[in-house]
Amino acid sequence: MEKTPLYTALREFTAQNPLRMHMPGHKGRPLPAPELAGLSAIDFTELPPTGNLFDGGGAIGAAEALWAEVFRLKSCLFLTGGSTQGVLAALTLACPPGSQVLLDRSCHLSAFHAMALLDLRPVYLPRPWLAEGGVAGPVSTETVEALLETHPNVKALCITSPTYYGVLSDLPALAAVMHRRGGVLVVDGAHGAHLPFLGMDAYSAADLAVVSAHKTLPAPGQSALLLAGAGFSHGALRRAGRIYGSSSPSYAMMAALDVCRAHMLEEGAAAYRRTAEAVAALRRDFPALTDGDAPLDPTRLTLLSPDGFGAQAALERLGVWPELADRGHVVLIPTCADTPADFARLRRALAAAELGPCPAFPPPPEPPEQALTPRQALFAPAEERPLRGAEGEIAADPIAPYPPGVPVVAPGERIEKKTIAYLEEIGYNRVCRISSRGN
Ligand SMILES: Cc1ncc(COP(=O)(O)O)c(C=O)c1O
Repeated sequence: MEKTPLYTALREFTAQNPLRMHMPGHKGRPLPAPELAGLSAIDFTELPPTGNLFDGGGAIGAAEALWAEVFRLKSCLFLTGGSTQGVLAALTLACPPGSQVLLDRSCHLSAFHAMALLDLRPVYLPRPWLAEGGVAGPVSTETVEALLETHPNVKALCITSPTYYGVLSDLPALAAVMHRRGGVLVVDGAHGAHLPFLGMDAYSAADLAVVSAHKTLPAPGQSALLLAGAGFSHGALRRAGRIYGSSSPSYAMMAALDVCRAHMLEEGAAAYRRTAEAVAALRRDFPALTDGDAPLDPTRLTLLSPDGFGAQAALERLGVWPELADRGHVVLIPTCADTPADFARLRRALAAAELGPCPAFPPPPEPPEQALTPRQALFAPAEERPLRGAEGEIAADPIAPYPPGVPVVAPGERIEKKTIAYLEEIGYNRVCRISSRGN
């Protein structure tokens, strides 16, 4: 049996039949709906037998240390606010307020929020465009090196790997580039929590990495991990994590993270390998991104279609619900929880969906002028405008059509005529939020 220090401690305490004169209000009694009933039994608050996430040590610390081992990193902090909390904390650790950061332009909204909160100055890192697959490719080490030459003050690089479409970047090479200049590599691995269980050395090269257990592992919504190498102490992770987390982190969620790791080591890893084989077979039999396009997460299934939204609708009519669709792709997230029967059902449904080469997307125009910092843009009063009437205004939020999922306009950038023309050409005509400062 794999160790489950936190789950075991909570069970042992429950077995003592404590009279709970403390939070949470359910007192360990069943929540009032059959599906929720069991959640409360080991849901506690900070007590000597249950430990304290942000004080460190105890059963929670032991459970975190076992997760750090899985990822071959030095320390781990449990997150109950998803990778969102982790990205905010990681950038807080890596970037002094007001500093410059080299940021993968396709980063998640949480990275843009971190920039605003910390008043960071982004140097955006473009990704190469893979025309045939219709997605952004891996981060190029050469591009990072060139940007560091022109921006010598940058000491942190933040990238996403894998992307939503499953594209992986070469983290050891990127870490080496950063370390040569005394900098650090921060990886948003929200979609990569399962990679070590496929035998992949996923994030050990990173200085800080964030993974969403809930996205690809049998773990509840919002459960995630912040992982660190030798450069950041566990105390530093706790101090940064608590800025953005609840002071009442869910014990049920933390226990679920503990049990999830044990389950993955006992039987989940073998199930994940079977899933990777099933996905490889589907990639052979249906039009999809493959490792020939870019190094990929072996379990992410990015299907190609001349009409991604139509293919998504066809699948949904058959009761198959994809994670995401865009004009040329349907993205599915198979995990270790999918059974052979699920894959047989998926295969039948895919045969009925219109799959094939994705339409050609024109490359996005050069990034527009940065008129305001992300902080000025995000915290200024803002209003919604139809895109067509927004020429000359400043974006308060990223305008990021899929694909490439990369903001065509980032917060603080001016919305130019050519940008609107591009967005209209690719069929993106949503309203946008514009900042009223600086107009
Ligand atoms: C790349 C990436 N990073 C971070 C996040 C935020 O993760 P969470 O939903 O766990 O807060 C997401 C969510 O989709 C994501 O796609």
